[in-house]
Amino acid sequence: MTIDLAVVPVAGQGTRLLPATKSQPKEMLPVGRKPIVQYVVEELALSGIKRLLFITGASKTSIENHFDINGELIQYLRETGREDQLAELDFERQQMEYFYTRQRRPLGLGHAVLCARPLIMNQPFVVALGDSIIGLHAQSKIVQRLIEQFERSDDIKAVVAFEEVPREEVVRYGIAKPRGEVDDVFELEDLIEKPDIDEAPSNLAVAARYVFAPEIFDMLEQTPPGKAGEIQLTDAIRLLLRNGAKGIGVRLAPEERRYDIGNFESYFEAFVEFALADPLYGEGLHKHLQALLNSQRPV
Ligand code: UTP
Repeated sequence: MTIDLAVVPVAGQGTRLLPATKSQPKEMLPVGRKPIVQYVVEELALSGIKRLLFITGASKTSIENHFDINGELIQYLRETGREDQLAELDFERQQMEYFYTRQRRPLGLGHAVLCARPLIMNQPFVVALGDSIIGLHAQSKIVQRLIEQFERSDDIKAVVAFEEVPREEVVRYGIAKPRGEVDDVFELEDLIEKPDIDEAPSNLAVAARYVFAPEIFDMLEQTPPGKAGEIQLTDAIRLLLRNGAKGIGVRLAPEERRYDIGNFESYFEAFVEFALADPLYGEGLHKHLQALLNSQRPV
């Protein structure tokens, strides 16, 4: 049976987006018309995911509410003849089963994934970060490609998506050390966390989508906390590779840009890009921005 189960960690504090994230999850911030996490779920559905386990935390209940069916709202829209607005709730009906568990303390992404262990047990699974959109309007099937690679051989225990980044940006990401030739798919020798520019073994940055064999849980159990006491997923993948497991990297296509909504700079960029591509309002916004940029107003 092919993998149809994804873990979506959404329990982070989002401190880099304060005050916007003081009492609402960063994963619920809108990019264009939809909250970020809705794009993530729609992307996963496109790749055949049918069961989704959110790792949530305190003040994240609006995520659960968002994916519930809101009968009262549906009835209200029907009664008031707003069928077009009703269509905006179609995502509630996509074929997806939702499960939720809590990460009770924010001990890092690796720890968040480990919280899935009692529910996932012995199955392979996808991990998709709830604050990263892949491709404009999430039109990406990267997860399907990761699953295809994972299913090629029993020796493969981790498949990771990578995005090519400008050389000067490698210092911000986990970077792939490929074994041999790099093509769209390549073997992973190691991962280097935030390397110096001169020491980076490539410009391929970890890009928020993964497939793992359940062995990753043992590695996470053995991973000591790093800086700020957080357990890093990257460290557990390194441990997996060092223990002789095979890891595969899959490169995102140029049109599958990763929108990481972790800080205001990338959030603003993503919002503007998605709004400019909006079928109804994109053209008007384009004109407005052009006029704004051409005006003498100081920025
Ligand atoms: P980040 O690495 O951006 O961390 O999370 P963060 O804590 O959310 O944000 P800052 O650094 O305080 O600004 C990447 C993804 O992993 C989840 C987040 O919710 C986000 O979707 N995450 C992170 C967890 O689920 N638990 C954690 O302990 C940390």
